[in-house]
Amino acid sequence: MASHKLRVDMFDLVAAIARIVDMMSPAVGSHHMQVAYLADRLGEELKLSDDERFELLIAGALHDIGAFSLQDRLDLLEFEDTKPGEHSIAGSLILGTFKPFSPMARLVKFHHVPWENGRGATQGDESVPMGSHIIHLADRVAVQISRKAPILGQVRGICDTISAQRGEIFVPEHVDALLKIATREYIWLDAVSESIEVILRRNVLRQKRELSIEGLVDFARLICRLIDFKSEFTASHSNGVAATAVQLAKLTGFSRYERSLIEIAAYLHDLGKLAIPSEIIEKQNALTEEEWFIMRSHVYHTFQALEPFEMLKAVSSWGSLHQERLNGTGYPFGLMADDLPLGARIMAVADVFTALTEDRPYRQGMNPESTTAVLQAMVDADELDKNLVDLVFKNYEAMNETRETAQKEATREYHAFQAVLHRLCKINP
Ligand SMILES: [Fe+2]
Ligand SMILES: [Fe+2]
Ligand SMILES: [Fe+2]
Repeated sequence: MASHKLRVDMFDLVAAIARIVDMMSPAVGSHHMQVAYLADRLGEELKLSDDERFELLIAGALHDIGAFSLQDRLDLLEFEDTKPGEHSIAGSLILGTFKPFSPMARLVKFHHVPWENGRGATQGDESVPMGSHIIHLADRVAVQISRKAPILGQVRGICDTISAQRGEIFVPEHVDALLKIATREYIWLDAVSESIEVILRRNVLRQKRELSIEGLVDFARLICRLIDFKSEFTASHSNGVAATAVQLAKLTGFSRYERSLIEIAAYLHDLGKLAIPSEIIEKQNALTEEEWFIMRSHVYHTFQALEPFEMLKAVSSWGSLHQERLNGTGYPFGLMADDLPLGARIMAVADVFTALTEDRPYRQGMNPESTTAVLQAMVDADELDKNLVDLVFKNYEAMNETRETAQKEATREYHAFQAVLHRLCKINP
């Protein structure tokens, strides 16, 4: 019986997500890691508890995940963005769907609220956590860091800008803490270091949090929302792939534990899309060659993000080989049949089946005849596994219904998310 303790560290997972999100805008560098690092240092100086620091760290590492488009992300580089509410609320709504992250969701929700000499302690009838103000400060320090000049020469300018807003934008005690740690050169060198993630990991060792397999499924669901909610066009895709893959896994004799792993792999198979701006994902006309290169790279990013997790080898290989084909024509590795494990073959069939049958805002899903014809052609071309596709044909109706139900539920959730987002943005413009 396989162990149900996976011992996957939560910070490592979050760091992998942050890294991939930051790929969307190289101009921003490792913004999420920088904010996590600075927030943690401020938390240390302010003598926060381990729990509070852990919350700051996770929230800092994910604070801008609600900014889905490249334009939104670049706008956030500007000092005090004009419309900071929407991405904060979107990020907090998504984070809040994973129970252990509800405190972090609150921190993210208010991470652009100015202090206004105390008025920023509340917004509407909600109290704004102090951690939100710390992240705000860390964020506004991070956006001023230029990669084009030596960091130590920038410290005075950064501190002056922040000091000028002491009380008005930032909590006075937080600014004082910043000015104190700002005298330590290593803090700045850490912040711009290529190894910032390693440095952070060393810091968080004592606050290690591990996830069970059930926890990991829930966490993967959160990431799945993050990936799919980038665009209305993909809002339910990974859920459809998961529903299909789990059914195929059951039919081929995967254990319960392995089925959980394949479910996780399906939720994460398009993880690399976090690095693709929604402008490209949503483009209705044919992609330009350059856009297509960017789009294709998403599978590689999925692989790079998951590969380091020793405990997640199966998830990583199944999820990141979903575009490989048995005859070697797939990408990014061009592997041949012998190198493609059953889990990866299941993922490929589940992905194609879902892509063909799902409705998109601009087109209806294919009917069974056309779907069957496409799948058969792919088997004939030695792209997809014949046995698996035969299983799809044999169980077509049940399989399609389960996929459809899962995607309808996900679509409902997406519309509910949009409605709440819209309402909250009106209340907190
Ligand atoms: Fe932000
Ligand atoms: Fe930010
Ligand atoms: Fe996919």
